[in-house]
Amino acid sequence: MSTSLSARATKEFQGRIIDGVDDVTPTVIAAMAQAPNARVREIGEAFVRHMHAFAREVKLTEEEYDIGIDFLNRIGQATNDYHNEGILFADAIGFSTLVCLMNNGNYGATETVAALLGPFWRMNSPRTEAGGSIVRSPTPGPELFVSCVIKDTKGAPIEGVEVDVWQSSPVGLYENQDDTQADMNLRGKFMTGAQGGFGFRSVRPAGYPVPTDGPVGDMLRAQNRHPYRPAHIHFLGFKPGFKTLVTQVFVDDDQYLETDAVFGVTRHLVGNYQRHDSGTPPAAGVTAPWYTLEYTFVMEAGEAKLPIPPIK
Ligand code: BEZ
Ligand code: FE
Repeated sequence: MSTSLSARATKEFQGRIIDGVDDVTPTVIAAMAQAPNARVREIGEAFVRHMHAFAREVKLTEEEYDIGIDFLNRIGQATNDYHNEGILFADAIGFSTLVCLMNNGNYGATETVAALLGPFWRMNSPRTEAGGSIVRSPTPGPELFVSCVIKDTKGAPIEGVEVDVWQSSPVGLYENQDDTQADMNLRGKFMTGAQGGFGFRSVRPAGYPVPTDGPVGDMLRAQNRHPYRPAHIHFLGFKPGFKTLVTQVFVDDDQYLETDAVFGVTRHLVGNYQRHDSGTPPAAGVTAPWYTLEYTFVMEAGEAKLPIPPIK
């Protein structure tokens, strides 16, 4: 079938009794053609076309259809204020990265520092003074000093970007997954200064398995895939006039860089987490080894819009 039903064919299939398998797709698309919003029409039609073509291609059985519907239902049932299985599913099939790379870097034409949001961003993380610590309850692990700059696409520093950061602990758990961490531990909000810089103190994050107790875990097991993500820190930069930057910077010696369970790693996002075994520590009381990370982000001009928070 062509990519879109002609106006004549649309008319022909509107309000018709279905005579056989070949009538189903055009009849559904004809029904949707009445949507007054052009984008709703376009997305609805393409979705139906691809879903029907998919069922035909794999010759979907009724048992497999039941399993698919149950899988969808379980994604919804597993989602609540504290867990977002829908985002996890989109991440685990590479859909989030596809949409991210299609919509950033001048719509996929140039390199981008953007990456998927993931299911663990929370709104309202605590404002923290420049250079301050995001360790809010005892969190054993090597200390980390992060120093970043945000520039525009012409290389000029951007002042006044509000930057959210969030990361897992050195044992690979976000505070919302771990009763031993204080609320908002390893989360913070910073503001870039006149030179576009912001920095903070933390601990080295560890890699971790994505949650596997729901349908996405079943899918990974059925596909013989491991659930691990390489260690990383998340960043979200917001300033009116710029496209909101959502990204992650990965630890460069992590064993899972090439096989991230959710396909979030691009070459540009592998950071230089430098280990220091000697020398003058960056702050009093710091013992070796400690780590430093320096990174430069680029924000594109565009609309500043916050994503819908995956969890509360
Ligand atoms: C994360 O990096 O927080 C994440 C991303 C995708 C799935 C699970 C976790
Ligand atoms: Fe993460």
